[in-house]
Amino acid sequence: MQTPIAPAPIEPETERLRLRQWRKSDLEPFARLNADPRVMEYFPQLLARAESDALAARIGELIARRGWGFWAAELKANGEFIGFVGLHVPSAELPFSPCVEIGWRLAFDHWGRGYATEAAEAALHVGFAELNLAEIVSFTTLGNSRSQAVMHRLGMQRDPQTFQHPAIAAGNPLHEHCLYRLGCEAWSIRQSESPFSPRP
Ligand SMILES: CC(C)(COP(=O)(O)OP(=O)(O)OC[C@H]1O[C@@H](n2cnc3c(N)ncnc32)[C@H](O)[C@@H]1OP(=O)(O)O)[C@@H](O)C(=O)NCCC(=O)NCCS
Repeated sequence: MQTPIAPAPIEPETERLRLRQWRKSDLEPFARLNADPRVMEYFPQLLARAESDALAARIGELIARRGWGFWAAELKANGEFIGFVGLHVPSAELPFSPCVEIGWRLAFDHWGRGYATEAAEAALHVGFAELNLAEIVSFTTLGNSRSQAVMHRLGMQRDPQTFQHPAIAAGNPLHEHCLYRLGCEAWSIRQSESPFSPRP
């Protein structure tokens, strides 16, 4: 699979959110959420400020290169940066590579409002309708039920097989991951069945 390049930068919007390229002003709130043990419960470690800045820079470079990626998510109502949601090509070689994943990380104060699912629906639309992907996957540690709930709400199907994440040491409780998949056809059917899709 060749990684698709969008002909022009894509910055999707939803009713409440704007998904956009990263800005310098995102770095401080991003560092705060990467240093929050509640947000980082299912990651191997909290990120120091320099690590968080480097991650934002890498993500931003990928968006600049491809036109899509893990977008910075901001509230339309007041412009507040709340985290990231979007599409990404995992850097680790995974049992199901090559693939495009959908992922999310939001500041704790913005959980429980439906923002992750709302933004992810827009990201799926980009992946399937604009980038013509055949499949989008998502994966997380077995204990991360909030992230799995987002995958489930998006209509993704859990693979019966779990896998060991190669970037996490064996013996670490975060090593074992579950995988969720969504194919373009299943996504299209869901779209046509949505009560919000236009009726003939
Ligand atoms: C994973 C994560 C993004 C999920 O956030 P979330 O708030 O649980 O998910 P959503 O934004 O889709 O919100 C859904 C919740 O909002 C509620 N909600 C409130 N208002 C809503 C609205 N207007 N529309 C839809 N849902 C709404 C839903 O009922 C649901 O509540 P529930 O959790 O009690 O069932 C968040 O927990 C997170 O950032 N975790 C840390 C990072 C992480 O683990 N990332 C994944 C690594 S693989």
